[in-house]
Amino acid sequence: MHDFSLEVHGTHTFDSTGAISAPIYTSATYRHPAFQQSTGYDYGRVANPTRDELEKTMALLERGERSWALSSGMAAINMVLHLFRPGDHVLLSEDLYGGTVRLANDIYTRYNIQFEYVDTADLELTAAHIKPATKGIFIETPSNPMMRISDIQALAKLAHDHEALLIVDNTFLSPHFQKPLTLGADIVLHSATKYLCGHNDIIAGILVVRDAQADYAQQLELFIKSEGPNLPPLDSWLLLRSIKTLGLRVERQSENALKIAQWLQTHPAVTDVYYVGLPSHPGYGLQRCQASGNGSMISFKVKSADLAKKALGKLHLICFAESLGGVETLLTYPLAQTHAEMPAELLARTGLDDRLLRLSVGIEEADDIITDLDQALQD
Ligand SMILES: Cc1ncc(COP(=O)(O)O)c(C=O)c1O
Repeated sequence: MHDFSLEVHGTHTFDSTGAISAPIYTSATYRHPAFQQSTGYDYGRVANPTRDELEKTMALLERGERSWALSSGMAAINMVLHLFRPGDHVLLSEDLYGGTVRLANDIYTRYNIQFEYVDTADLELTAAHIKPATKGIFIETPSNPMMRISDIQALAKLAHDHEALLIVDNTFLSPHFQKPLTLGADIVLHSATKYLCGHNDIIAGILVVRDAQADYAQQLELFIKSEGPNLPPLDSWLLLRSIKTLGLRVERQSENALKIAQWLQTHPAVTDVYYVGLPSHPGYGLQRCQASGNGSMISFKVKSADLAKKALGKLHLICFAESLGGVETLLTYPLAQTHAEMPAELLARTGLDDRLLRLSVGIEEADDIITDLDQALQD
């Protein structure tokens, strides 16, 4: 079946009422029919029918064997970083969500795990940074916020040649546009708060594994069951409902994004536009091979930091806010928001500076978004 159909129907099976919308099960615990018998549900932290339906749907959409729905994207990243042990070395894209860098550098280095940041869009450079202790490569593609494109298939091969895992944060594209597990990645994760939710009304995370029998998947199962970072039933249901319109939303957002990126390229106050749907983007060809769309995240630089900051206060339709992926267009100032705690060295290396703005394009009329940006960018 095609993605649009899978997104609408997921793995929904009908109960005796024929309910089209999945029921919300709030029960914390479940009655056993008799000694040593179970309905399949014993205790809500371990399994919940509504969350199960979401997890099965996400495994289906990402073409994985097992998925877990968690309380945030950071909870998903935290579970993944649990897989590494003292003495391990992990390579990460140098341009990625600042919260991931904070978790790795400020917390996991306490356990003697070494993290190194590299431009994973440069395969040779990434290969040169592999060490005997390297146990994982963690990427975002498109990267955040500079929109660099990394070759998932080549990085999966590189990781596997060294018995390491390839982990992909697929938040920016969603499975509607990119399915890293089909390209050899081992683990995919999402801040489901973004495109999967799409309405800026829940915080959630998703993990999906390619091979449910692999040791890393068994370990994740153990961490999640033991630590309890699961998504509650009401939020699981909201996410299931949102996923039904994922394709419609992201296709429309992506169409809007292309129009806006093309317009930004012509704007006298804009010096650089970073959007992978533009043929001038260095990752344009690779993106066509490994994804079926470009998403709707655009970063751009304006003539001065002063202009960037002033524009944020002049918006009418667009909201100056952190986050992305919702139906509302948001403008972010990464240096002070999503990447505020990024080490200066990484900022300098990636080019993230005080003139950079990041636009998450929504489903409004593209012309209205352009009109708002145009007036905000007037000197
Ligand atoms: C790419 C990416 N990954 C992970 C996260 C963390 O997700 P959450 O905020 O749902 O914990 C974010 C949050 O902005 C993000 O943008």
